[in-house]
Amino acid sequence: METVYSALKPTGKLTIGNYLGAIKNMTAMTDEYNCIYTVADLHSITVTIEPSALRENTLDMFSMLVALGLTPDKCLLFLQSRVPMHSELAWILDCFTMFGEARRMTQFKDKSLKAPENVNVGLFAYPVLMAADILLYGAKYVPIGKDQQQHLELARTIADRFNNRYSPTFVVPEGVYPKVGAKIGSLIDPTAKMGKTDENADGTVFMLDDKDTIMRKFKRAVTDSGSEIVFSPDKPGISNLMTIYSAFTGKTTDEVASEFSDGNYARFKLAVGETVASFLLKAQEEYRRIRSDKAYIAELLSSSADKAAHIAYKTLAKAKRKVGFVV
Ligand code: TYM
Repeated sequence: METVYSALKPTGKLTIGNYLGAIKNMTAMTDEYNCIYTVADLHSITVTIEPSALRENTLDMFSMLVALGLTPDKCLLFLQSRVPMHSELAWILDCFTMFGEARRMTQFKDKSLKAPENVNVGLFAYPVLMAADILLYGAKYVPIGKDQQQHLELARTIADRFNNRYSPTFVVPEGVYPKVGAKIGSLIDPTAKMGKTDENADGTVFMLDDKDTIMRKFKRAVTDSGSEIVFSPDKPGISNLMTIYSAFTGKTTDEVASEFSDGNYARFKLAVGETVASFLLKAQEEYRRIRSDKAYIAELLSSSADKAAHIAYKTLAKAKRKVGFVV
C-alpha cells in the first residue's frame, strides 16, 4: 500500500480553503492508502505567534481533523513537534538545498514583504522542513492546494539530489490537487487566496464560524458586474462562489450555472451560505465532542507521536548512514 502524507500548520484557525484544498482529499484517500498526517506546529513559529494562540490552534486543529474523519482507525495523525526526526532530517536536507532555490520560493518572498521585521532563517528554510516531513515517511502522494505546489516541487528536487548523490533513499513524492477547489479565493478579494491569517476576516470562512457569521460572510461576498452566474476568468467573485458551491455539493459548474440561470446573485449567495453552513455545523458538533474529551486527545497525541517516530527513525537512520555519520 502506498503512503500518503500531508500537513497543515496551526498559525490560525482552519478555513474552508484548507478543507477544500487539502483535507477533503486527505480524508478521501484514507480508504485506499496508508495515510500519515501532521499538525505542522514547527512551521508555525516562522511567523510571530502568541504561545497561548499556538497551543489553542494546535488542539483545535487536531480535534477538527479527527472530527472530519481523520480518526486513528483511518490514519496516523500527530503533532510535528513531538517527533524530533523532522528537525533532524531538515538539517541534513538544508545541506542539499541551494540558497538560490529557497530564495525563489514565492511564499518566502510574500511573507518577507508582509513582515519585513521578522525575515528569519526559519522562514527561509521552511520548505526544507516541509520536504523532511514528506520524505521521512516515504510518501508517494501529497494531497495539497495549489499554493503548496512550488514547495512540493522543491521537495522533489531535494529528494532527487540526495538519491543521485548517494543511492535511492527517498521516495520522490507527487502532489495531488483537487479537481475543484485547489485555490479558494477570499470572499472580499477573490483573486487572493483565502487564508487563515488574513487581515480582513470577512473574506475567510472558518471551519468554526457559526451560522450567522457564515451567512453574513457569503451575503457580503464580492460579486462581479453583470448579472450572470457563469464560470469565467473575468468573473472571479462569482467563479469563486461557484467553485465553493460545486465542491461542497459535488455538482459541476455547468449544473450550478443552470440551477441559477435566472442570474439572481442574492438567491445564489444564500444557497452557497446554506450549503456551507449545513456541512460546517455538522462537523462542529463532532468537533465539540472530541475537543472537550481532554483525556482522549492526550492519549491520542502521545500514541500517534510514538508510532510516527518509529517510522521516521528508520528513514532518518538510513539518511544518516548514507551521508557518513557513525550510527
Ligand atoms: P497551510 O497550513 O497553509 O495549508 C494547509 C493546506 O490547505 C491548502 N490551502 C488551500 N487550498 C485551497 N485554497 C486555499 N485558499 C487554501 N489555503 C490553504 C494548502 O495548500 C495546504 O495543502 N506548508 C504547509 C503545511 C505543511 C505541509 C507539509 C503540507 C508542512 N509540511 C508537508 C504538505 C506536506 C502549509 O503551510 O499549509
